[in-house]
Amino acid sequence: MVVCWHVLRRTALTAGILLGAVSLAVAQPLGTAQAGGGLTPSASAQPAANDTGRAIEQYREAVADSSPGELWEIRGEALWNEVRGPRQVSLERCDLGAGPGVVAGAYARLPRWFADVGQVMDLETRLLHCMVTLQGFARDQLLRETFGDGPRRSAFEALSAWIAAQSRGLAINPPLAHPAEQTAYRVGRELFYQRGGTHDFSCSSCHGETGRRIRLQELPNLSEPAQARPVYASWPAYRVSQGEMRTLQWRLNDCFRQQRFPQLIFGSPASIALMSYLANNARGAEMNAPGVKR
Ligand code: HEC
Repeated sequence: MVVCWHVLRRTALTAGILLGAVSLAVAQPLGTAQAGGGLTPSASAQPAANDTGRAIEQYREAVADSSPGELWEIRGEALWNEVRGPRQVSLERCDLGAGPGVVAGAYARLPRWFADVGQVMDLETRLLHCMVTLQGFARDQLLRETFGDGPRRSAFEALSAWIAAQSRGLAINPPLAHPAEQTAYRVGRELFYQRGGTHDFSCSSCHGETGRRIRLQELPNLSEPAQARPVYASWPAYRVSQGEMRTLQWRLNDCFRQQRFPQLIFGSPASIALMSYLANNARGAEMNAPGVKR
């Protein structure tokens, strides 16, 4: 794959300009919405929110042919093949559910039951498992490097980007025949509606109704397949405002923060259950990741 650096630089520039436009567009009503406490389907915020949405849409079109996310994909492919870790092996024997080393189409069929560990796993949890059991990395060390930040890159983000891209165009179709897969889905649904924390929020407080927004950000109704599909199909995603590739584990982690819940543990049964709920609600959608987000 050839990367045109000048195109990427221009893209970054366009992003900066567009983001500038976005913050200008939101400046005025933001204060109003904040004063109201955030979670409101405010009519006055509507026009600016539409501007924001349009600006992001324009950005997506601008980067469609050469998203900065491609850099993570390239790095992810190299990481998959690279001999790494104390055991000095690559991930080429890692089984993502389609057989050892099979990456094509694997992401569209996750999360799923893995007989070797007797557990349902999503992509990131499975990668963690492979890096520990095959490559000999220390689990604790890996858990300190789950999310990248500037020069500190995370292998999870690069690998997820590349692996998800190998399912592009395929229908999301996580298996739901094994009792543990059904349990994960049911637990995920329970968690989605479970209220708690200082604000008595659940996922559903923000993502259980159509047309909700927090300040100017539109909140997809993730209990509704029509809205869950395009969302799930576009993760992992390149986040323009952070200049980072982000995984779904990151997204859930950040939403636990939004929800004023204690930190979500990477690869925990709760994270996998929520992922199962989202993936099953998105069944049938065509994978189109990595996506581009605000
Ligand atoms: C207090 C409100 C709030 C709560 C509660 C919340 N979220 Fe979110 N969520 C957001 C916001 C705001 C965004 C969009 C962030 C952005 O665009 O930067 C978001 C984005 C998302 C996305 C990505 C949407 C997209 O368009 O790609 C997913 C998936 C998600 N949340 C899942 C969850 C789950 C699962 C829970 C419960 C564990 C949850 N959220 C709880 C506010 C919330």
